[in-house]
Amino acid sequence: MNRGLIFILGLLLFSSLVAVASTYGAVSEEEARNRFTSLGCTSCHRPGGVARSWDEIISNLRSWGRQYQDIDEAVSNEVIYLGNIRFNSFDELMAQMQRNVGASDSDMAMLKEFFQAVFRGEVADTPVADDGGQGGMGIPMNMDTTSIVLAVVVIVIVVVAIAYIRTSSSK
Ligand code: HEC
Repeated sequence: MNRGLIFILGLLLFSSLVAVASTYGAVSEEEARNRFTSLGCTSCHRPGGVARSWDEIISNLRSWGRQYQDIDEAVSNEVIYLGNIRFNSFDELMAQMQRNVGASDSDMAMLKEFFQAVFRGEVADTPVADDGGQGGMGIPMNMDTTSIVLAVVVIVIVVVAIAYIRTSSSK
């Protein structure tokens, strides 16, 4: 095998690994939202309820991510619980929410991870939300579209590799 071929095969293997790694373990908004509902967070967090709805929580986290470096700072500045209670950190806020519904640590772990990912801007805004479609260029990016994009990248590399092999072997 010539060196160029080895290089291209290495690139192909690497990009497939990246594709697998980036989809593996990522929580989708649908899963997180279902967990939120099944844990009973929606007894307060719903339209017309005593606390912000899921959509409002998500859009808050998104805009805090643009405003603040640190999620703890955002929570301590922005969240006021029951009129006057403030939290020093995101963990403190989530511990209170956990007590509100009596959820286990493992039930909460996935939701906490998801909220932090939203804060970091890692969760794409889906245009179905009534937020005036802030999704980048109106393209509905979610985990599924990400996988499709990565699959296309892998296919392009394969095609380039085949073309390369054909030209180099015809020399
Ligand atoms: C007893 C009512 C109640 C329950 C149950 C409850 N919360 Fe809350 N939560 C509140 C209130 C009140 C606030 C203060 C800010 C607000 O109104 O959203 C709050 C704030 C939050 C915030 C900050 C949102 C923001 O935009 O300010 C998050 C995130 C949150 N809760 C998550 C949860 C999760 C996850 C659960 C379920 C495990 C849960 N909450 C259960 C009452 C509740």
